[in-house]
Amino acid sequence: MKITLTALQEMYGKNEKIAVLTCYDASFAALLEAQGVDILLVGDSLGMVLQGHETTLPVSLDNMVYHTACVARGAKQAFIIGDMPFGTFQVSPQETFANAARLIAAGAHMIKLEGGAVMAETVEFLAGRGIPVCGHIGLTPQSVHQIGGYRLQGKEAAAAQKLLEDAVALEQAGADMLVLETIPALLAAEITAALSIPTIGIGAGAACSGQVLVLHDMLNIYPGKKARFAKNYLQDACGITEAVKNYVAEVKSGSFPAQEHSF
Ligand code: KIV
Repeated sequence: MKITLTALQEMYGKNEKIAVLTCYDASFAALLEAQGVDILLVGDSLGMVLQGHETTLPVSLDNMVYHTACVARGAKQAFIIGDMPFGTFQVSPQETFANAARLIAAGAHMIKLEGGAVMAETVEFLAGRGIPVCGHIGLTPQSVHQIGGYRLQGKEAAAAQKLLEDAVALEQAGADMLVLETIPALLAAEITAALSIPTIGIGAGAACSGQVLVLHDMLNIYPGKKARFAKNYLQDACGITEAVKNYVAEVKSGSFPAQEHSF
């Protein structure tokens, strides 16, 4: 069955957890969707796990268009989200639309952009013109120099309140989905309960509507620092296919993330 935005909204309505993994090429796209991954996120994490950069900041729109097209050629049924790289959506809404349109033309069904209420005008512009948008708040890796490292966000009451307000602002602007990264599980639960769109957690606890991991983290092939939320699914599997199958099963059953992967 082809997974459309409507199908994802139905899953959300039925409280069926949404399984998401990052994906950057055609072979993995085919493998992941065959094991039941609902959404393939062509993340700008490719700057770190494929290109070897220390951050996601050097990733270009051309890089994202190329990898989105690769994934789209390999996927027959999964929903594809293309990530807007740094500097391509902090411009005017019109220019952002032109940049986002390149990802859609390459095969993405939705674009993702980092940032809270400050992005609402842009989200409204895109969503009002036929481009589905996924927001991304909490730890936003493109702001690494501003936040001083890859660390838990929304710990203090004021910061938590701001994230809740950001989430509501993005939904009101027309976002259809929201990634919550590295925030306390209780806060993610509160945000999820306040919204009528699916939340996809990464280091945000089990109450989110779905979960995402970076493929190279869950296969334990990224040589960099391991995040607490990144479970190695290859260690108990006899290969990549079984590792992905187990990830999907644990997301769907709600057994991933466990407390040890949450904050
Ligand atoms: O770029 C990416 O892979 C992401 C996920 C970590 C959510 O944004």
